[in-house]
Amino acid sequence: MKGLVLAGGSGTRLRPLTYTGAKQLVPVANRPVLFYVIDNIVAAGIREIGVIISHETGEEIRRALGDGSAFGAKLTYILQDRPLGLAHAVVTARAFLGGSDFVMYLGDNLIGHGIRDMVDAFRSDPSHAASVMLKEVPNPTQFGIAEVDDAGNVVRLVEKPKEPKSRLALVGIYLFRSVIFEAIDRISPSSRGELEITDAIVQIIALGGKVKFTRLTGWWLDTGKKDDLLLANDTVLDDWLEPSIEGQVDEASRTSGRIRIGRGSRVERSIIRGPVIIGEGVTVVDSRIGPFTAIGDAVRIERSTVEHSVIMSGSRVLDIPRLEDSLIGKRVVVRPGASRHGALSLMVGDDSLIELSTE
Ligand code: G1P
Repeated sequence: MKGLVLAGGSGTRLRPLTYTGAKQLVPVANRPVLFYVIDNIVAAGIREIGVIISHETGEEIRRALGDGSAFGAKLTYILQDRPLGLAHAVVTARAFLGGSDFVMYLGDNLIGHGIRDMVDAFRSDPSHAASVMLKEVPNPTQFGIAEVDDAGNVVRLVEKPKEPKSRLALVGIYLFRSVIFEAIDRISPSSRGELEITDAIVQIIALGGKVKFTRLTGWWLDTGKKDDLLLANDTVLDDWLEPSIEGQVDEASRTSGRIRIGRGSRVERSIIRGPVIIGEGVTVVDSRIGPFTAIGDAVRIERSTVEHSVIMSGSRVLDIPRLEDSLIGKRVVVRPGASRHGALSLMVGDDSLIELSTE
């Protein structure tokens, strides 16, 4: 079996972060979401993985993943010229996929457990033409939605239905046999101008193929918006953070809970309350960090309190009495201005969000 990871697109929902970076590389607990995706595929015993990239962010994705050896995978990059849909991406990867069965996995999807059981079940039962992962959601109009029968088959699928017949959403993890190509040949672009994989699965059923499903019982986090990303960060820190302190914490500092501090980082006269992850080369002085906070590499925090936030690499937070529920991109500086009668002085990029205390 092969893997196909979709890491194209330009990502509008996480603007401004995705102006300068791929949405699949946004960090959760200091690791790009895409890394968890590759880990999950490799853990299911699949090593040959095609990665669909776009012109906009392809180079950045390549740099982050390399040849895949760091993950125990062999990666092949496939350029999707234009964002014409998930089914179009499958067609683009046809030469790579050959006649193999494959798992297709959306590269910005984070789920709370592995896919090994789903993959094993598919491998051992050739009567399934496809298999999809489903999860009950409160907002079914925003996803591909499936109707299922008692025998465990998908009977109908609709992409973003106006009047949903169920709340079971397609999670973005699909297993296919080569009949998918015949199915894609039978579809045409949707109202958003894309070849929808959801429509192609409908065609598999029309061709007489059985489509099985696995219900995702653990969490599924859409890392599309600020609050989703903070929630993803909380959940991953809570569930997966393995404590280790490689940096230096001085005697005047106090730590509690699960904490990870990377190489070359220094914590002085500070209080760290886990779960907290601190990257490499970070300086924390006279500050309080956590809980539920991820600090990227080479960040500097001085005389500040930072709680329930994500601060990406190279940023500085100086003399801020309380920063919480915040998502701060790379190389950002947050500090008080030279006081001019309480006026604010800002330099902020497009699509940023600034929420100031009005007290
Ligand atoms: C895509 C699929 C949709 C699926 C969703 C999962 O939607 O088309 O069926 O439920 O991913 O994240 P998109 O993110 O392209 O709107």
